[in-house]
Amino acid sequence: MSYDAQGRVALITGGANGIGAAVARRLAAAGGHVVLADVDTERGTALAAELDGVFVRCDVREPADSAAAVAAAVGRFGGLDLAFLNAGVASGFGLGDDFDPDAYRRAMAINLDGVVYGVHAALPALRARGGGDIVATASMAGLTATPFDPVYGANKAAVVGLARALGPAHEPEGIRVNALCPSFADTDIIVPIKDHLERTEFPILEVSAVVDTFFAILAGRGAGEAWFVVPGRESAPFAFRGVPGPR
Ligand SMILES: NC(=O)c1ccc[n+]([C@@H]2O[C@H](COP(=O)([O-])OP(=O)(O)OC[C@H]3O[C@@H](n4cnc5c(N)ncnc54)[C@H](O)[C@@H]3O)[C@@H](O)[C@H]2O)c1
Repeated sequence: MSYDAQGRVALITGGANGIGAAVARRLAAAGGHVVLADVDTERGTALAAELDGVFVRCDVREPADSAAAVAAAVGRFGGLDLAFLNAGVASGFGLGDDFDPDAYRRAMAINLDGVVYGVHAALPALRARGGGDIVATASMAGLTATPFDPVYGANKAAVVGLARALGPAHEPEGIRVNALCPSFADTDIIVPIKDHLERTEFPILEVSAVVDTFFAILAGRGAGEAWFVVPGRESAPFAFRGVPGPR
């Protein structure tokens, strides 16, 4: 089964670059309408024009910006079928001498609050359509230990936890919430560590592989799943071990 994007309206945060832009291109090529919500006005405007979509200047740290982005989708295309909550930044500091509380708040606000506000803004519009999809970009950093960027690991694990909780919460009303968990993929976000990855021969994903998994999530039937994207492996929902219940 594949996802039929024809005529569907998609909001994509972080849609001006990288994974969000690649998903926008694939959706538009399949007949979907895209609303790109990003702080990068220059690239977002250019891509929206190229894809016959809409660009909305949106800082996902601001709840009102997410609401305005959803309103733009409804206003321009008549509704919303899909929210790809994908805007994100790396942190690049630890909790020792290099710790900076302002940088910490910024990282948590973009990577976690941004998803929370995006879900909150999208739910009524998806409900009005009788259902739809929310995909949040987490990371493999949310599934494994990331000593090189603990704050990123923490906010991405939170996105995984959020999607796992929201999946069963909204599945009964036809809204599927899932998380996308890529390993390192070839976008601007890895520029600071790309040399190191290449030197240590750590394989880097093509962005198209991440887009393939995004569409596999949409084509699936699951909710509350966290799909890994890892070089050389077929993507699938990560199988969490059962936690011990009371006895
Ligand atoms: N590339 C990777 O290796 C990788 C791996 C795992 C997860 N991810 C996640 O994928 C998502 C997309 O990242 P990418 O790899 O495409 O990187 P990217 O830097 O190319 O794209 C990130 C986008 O988010 C936007 N953005 C940043 N702050 C924002 C804000 N406050 N409000 C709205 N938009 C904002 C940027 O302008 C940019 O367009 C992120 O959540 C990232 O954490 C990336």
